[in-house]
Amino acid sequence: MVDLSTSLCGVKLDNPVIPASGTFGFGYEFNDIYDINILGAISIKGTTKEPRFGNPTPRIAECTEGLINSIGLQNPGVDKVISYEIPKLRECYRKPIISNISGFSIEEYVECCQKMNEVKDVDIIELNISCPNVHNGGMSFGTQPENAQGVVEAVRKVTTKPLFVKLTPNVTDIVSIAKACEQGGADGISLINTSQGMRIDLKKRRPIIANKIGGFSGRAIFPIALKMVYQVYDAVKIPIMGIGGVASAEDVVEMMMAGASAVQVGAENLVNPYACRDIINNLPQVMKKYNINSLKDIIGEAHK
Ligand code: SIN
Repeated sequence: MVDLSTSLCGVKLDNPVIPASGTFGFGYEFNDIYDINILGAISIKGTTKEPRFGNPTPRIAECTEGLINSIGLQNPGVDKVISYEIPKLRECYRKPIISNISGFSIEEYVECCQKMNEVKDVDIIELNISCPNVHNGGMSFGTQPENAQGVVEAVRKVTTKPLFVKLTPNVTDIVSIAKACEQGGADGISLINTSQGMRIDLKKRRPIIANKIGGFSGRAIFPIALKMVYQVYDAVKIPIMGIGGVASAEDVVEMMMAGASAVQVGAENLVNPYACRDIINNLPQVMKKYNINSLKDIIGEAHK
């Protein structure tokens, strides 16, 4: 029997496969098509202080081996997520819940975190300072080490839960930002969010996405994500959740060898809603093929 289990700051996961925020709703929607209790954890839809309608449509453009999105953090707001969405998820799901939080000011991040800190069903907070699709917030906190450290320090004061910070790849030096987050009190790093991109409709001669530019994700960005996980693993002592283009059990193993303690699956859920289930089912045979008895043993192995 191979051992798929892993852990994130003391939170035990049966396996490292986690649907990424924004690609799996609040989780319970997928319970209609398979038992979501097979998942390692779920990172639920990104949450802001106020309800948000999101950006104008079209918000999605397909690309070779990926897609561009510009959703604009559509969500019902933190109070509704706490009073309705998380309890509804709990009705059908017993495993760890990761609450992904976004904001437009430090005060908003702090308020959301404070509220999520009170929710016993939330196991981990994932601070999203990397959304490329909103102005005056999101990614603007994650592109300078001092800004990243500032928001992490502020949020750290109001939560005792494990605090992961989700970083953007749209920077020149991911290592300095990850280190600043660690310095600010983060317990872990989630990387990467989407890379900025765009498409043009040849008939209309205009950008496909109403917001013109969006976040590019999917299989095409896997090598970029892997490289950043590898670099950050060398520079920080806190655990990493690897995200970006993961689409197979082999990708999960590769991400873990680069340094990830757990792995999020994002765009692939939109291509194949069974992606996480299929990856989990395939992991044992891929582990056997590469003589891996325990996934915990391969975290960061590519650095030795
Ligand atoms: C969005 O809502 O626009 C995407 C969220 C993100 O990239 O963090």
